[in-house]
Amino acid sequence: MGKWKNEIEAAVSILSKAKSACASSGAGISEESGIPTFRDPGGIWEEINPIEAGTARGLVNALEKNAEKIIPIFLKMLGSFEQAEPNPGHTALFDLEKMGILKTVITQNVDNLHKEAGTSDLIEVHGNLFRMVCLRCGWQKMVDRKSFVRSVRDKLKSFTAYDFNSLISLADVCDQCDSIMRPDVVMFGEAVKGLRRAFNASLNSDVMLVLGTSGVVYPAASFPIEAKKAGARIIVINPSENGFQNYTDVYIPMKTGEALPIIVEKIRDNQ
Ligand code: APR
Repeated sequence: MGKWKNEIEAAVSILSKAKSACASSGAGISEESGIPTFRDPGGIWEEINPIEAGTARGLVNALEKNAEKIIPIFLKMLGSFEQAEPNPGHTALFDLEKMGILKTVITQNVDNLHKEAGTSDLIEVHGNLFRMVCLRCGWQKMVDRKSFVRSVRDKLKSFTAYDFNSLISLADVCDQCDSIMRPDVVMFGEAVKGLRRAFNASLNSDVMLVLGTSGVVYPAASFPIEAKKAGARIIVINPSENGFQNYTDVYIPMKTGEALPIIVEKIRDNQ
């Protein structure tokens, strides 16, 4: 922390006075849990073309045309989702919630780690990979992250052909209407979730923590900008430059799993 002592102290001073802080997180907060980000070197979009795999139809086509390339990448990603645990960055946000400082976490992540870390007011604008939704009646259910990943991986390994029918066999059957269920994640071109709630949380926040996001995907990237316009102080924690330079009050070029626990500890010491 030594090198960024002043920035940490500035963040501690701002957060200590916060009454309705909000956090907006991206893939970077889960990087220390072993889940790759999208746009860092070696990230997911370097391995899979987002245009191909980011839509339902593209995914099926990619699998039918190029399974031998796509499947190993899928299996690697499933492995990272299986071994992941909430890291000190996730748990520090829950600490800030328990201290009455942080009200809401808005996340672009679908990995369920904020929920598993205890965050109660969570807006998952890109959905949740472990919430299944029925394509016909809309009924939803949560599945256990690790056993779901294991069962998908075992099925994937048993396939003799990778086509639409084999993909469909991965799907859960709806307990209400027997139709098929899909992971409740937002694919490219689909409407994001909780947008009104996320904008309200941003506009009503007095501090916005911007954590591990490159700020290139809208509307998620606009939450810190709207918060700033409404008078919030913006604290960005990200080891690399990102899209929020013009809106940032305090920029801490550290990993969230390192910086957030130090900030929480210093706020506690000041109480
Ligand atoms: N701590 C903090 N930030 C980190 C860490 C870390 N340990 N590791 C990486 N980062 C930063 C990177 O510097 C980068 O700015 O996290 C950011 C990750 O950026 P992206 O990979 O673009 O992820 P994100 O911003 O969440 O992407 C948004 O794009 O493709 C869509 O749906 C996908 O939700 C995703 C959205």
